[in-house]
Amino acid sequence: MCGIVAYLGNQPAQPILIEGLKRLEYRGYDSAGVGLINDHTLNITKSSGRISVLESMLAKPNPVEILGIGHTRWATHGEPNTINAHPHLDYTGKIALAHNGIIENYTALKTFLIGKGCTFQSQTDTEVIANLIGYLYSNPDGKDCPHENLNRFEWAVQHALNELVGTYGLALVCTDFPDMLIGAKKGSPLILGLGKNEYIIASDAAAIVQHTTQVIYLSDNEMVTITPKGFSTKTIDNIEIHKEMKQLEFSLDAIELDGFGHFMLKEICEQPKALTTCLGGRLDMRDNRIILGGISNYWREITRAKRIIINACGTAWHAGLIGEFLIEQLARINTETQYASEFRYRNPIIEDNTIIIAISQSGETADTLAAVEQAKERGALTLGIVNVVGSTIARTTDTGVYLRVGPEIGVASTKAFTAQVAVLAMLAIELGRRRHLGSEQAKFYIDELSKIPSKIEQVLALSEDIKKIAEATCERENWLFLGRGFNYPVALEGALKLKEISYIHAEGLPAAEMKHGPIALINNGMPAVFIATRCSQYEKIIGNIEEVRARGGRTIVVANQGDENIKQYADFLIPVPEVPEELQPMVTVVPLQILAYHAAVLRGHDVDKPRNLAKSVTVE
Ligand code: M6R
Repeated sequence: MCGIVAYLGNQPAQPILIEGLKRLEYRGYDSAGVGLINDHTLNITKSSGRISVLESMLAKPNPVEILGIGHTRWATHGEPNTINAHPHLDYTGKIALAHNGIIENYTALKTFLIGKGCTFQSQTDTEVIANLIGYLYSNPDGKDCPHENLNRFEWAVQHALNELVGTYGLALVCTDFPDMLIGAKKGSPLILGLGKNEYIIASDAAAIVQHTTQVIYLSDNEMVTITPKGFSTKTIDNIEIHKEMKQLEFSLDAIELDGFGHFMLKEICEQPKALTTCLGGRLDMRDNRIILGGISNYWREITRAKRIIINACGTAWHAGLIGEFLIEQLARINTETQYASEFRYRNPIIEDNTIIIAISQSGETADTLAAVEQAKERGALTLGIVNVVGSTIARTTDTGVYLRVGPEIGVASTKAFTAQVAVLAMLAIELGRRRHLGSEQAKFYIDELSKIPSKIEQVLALSEDIKKIAEATCERENWLFLGRGFNYPVALEGALKLKEISYIHAEGLPAAEMKHGPIALINNGMPAVFIATRCSQYEKIIGNIEEVRARGGRTIVVANQGDENIKQYADFLIPVPEVPEELQPMVTVVPLQILAYHAAVLRGHDVDKPRNLAKSVTVE
């Protein structure tokens, strides 16, 4: 969703902001802008559409403009046009800000400010923040700034933030303080990068890593004031705080295309390596145990769980559903998977010995975070399965396991999904081991887990064959994805992948549900993707394939290598290596990722920037 980059240093800010905004493009946006301070004036340039449009509107970088703020906007309040793009100026023209998040009480504040004579240009909630700060800055009710450690700009920011209901990541400048940059955070991520005589504030480490790997993560209700002399951190209640410096754990290479046409393809192809890193050092082949350092102090509590609730959204929810099946099967603990967006509003029942698992690639998804916060308030132990190190969910959960797959830039989640399933499989094996799963059974699953990366490698080699299937089918506008057991969530995930990047309508279903309604959709030549690997329900799914073929559906079947029997049922066959059924999703999902990728490219879509979508959904 929206992205923030702000810079104060010793170089012209403009190219640094533009480069930073390009690094944030993957998050999804519809307009962009930059504001640069030149002595006591502010130069703001904004446009709807791509960063390249904004770039073409900018003059040559000015060496004296060493302070600036930039933003990519994903519209929530007000259409995606130039006026609504950020930075927003206050009515006095002195204060400019870039904002991520949503201000819930903006209507009341706007009414108040209009009553005080403030004027508004945009339809956004953000302009209310600018005008509130501007109003307080210009009219502090006759009082001077009451705190010795604050100047009037900082005071107005603090005072305004205390009036806001909602979420914000903010970067702010004021023409009266031409060498001061302020950042503030509540519910929306904000990171301060500490370079050599330069500082970058950004909502995502991807915009920082080119300049420095030393960062400070702001927490909620905190702000930072930066000048050429250094920086200070405080709460928005004006309590000085010391923040620990952290090291970013990824390099620039991880966010470059590295010769691939798209990040999605790069990340699909990275899966063997990513899973090897995810599993690395965690499979104890000698004692047939799993080592998950992050949660080692919590095993006692987790093992005693009477109920596990998994919370997640989108692809992470699909991984969660597989986790539910795995934990129930291997550890025999009652587990359920909930959409975080529903769970948070359901007044959920959380009794003693309930564990909440939150799954999130970004670690910033607003609904998943809210579900974690609610579960914590109700006394549950919360465990995060997160990719982005230091993200809000990683820091909010009591304990957790990192995916360790490096940055995922493609909006369509791929390598994070397979790693989420791998982590859930490890969790289920070790939980089982601590309850009733025998050493030999554990050994079997651990051995098989260790072979998954090489099996995915075999599937990647099928890319050209899968492309031919996409060529033959991608003009069709309606698809079905069907699977049973552990492959049912894979069907859901396959349908989501196709929908989000190729804009084809696709429905994922447990194959047996088809007869209860969706079978009516099948008409001549409708593509139906079946995941029909050898598993406990193999015969049943063959029956489902026949039902579709009898009605004229065209079948694309993911089956096991060497399965001669299935050939007669498949218009198109994708042979994948055999894997025990509990671990199959990590392998069977890969051809579906590749199929969706090729279909989207063939239909001429920008795979990494699908329309209307954002990489991490930081608003409700
Ligand atoms: O960052 P998260 O894993 O919390 O994101 C959850 C979903 O928004 C995400 O998986 C989304 O569904 C993907 N675009 C799917 O490819």
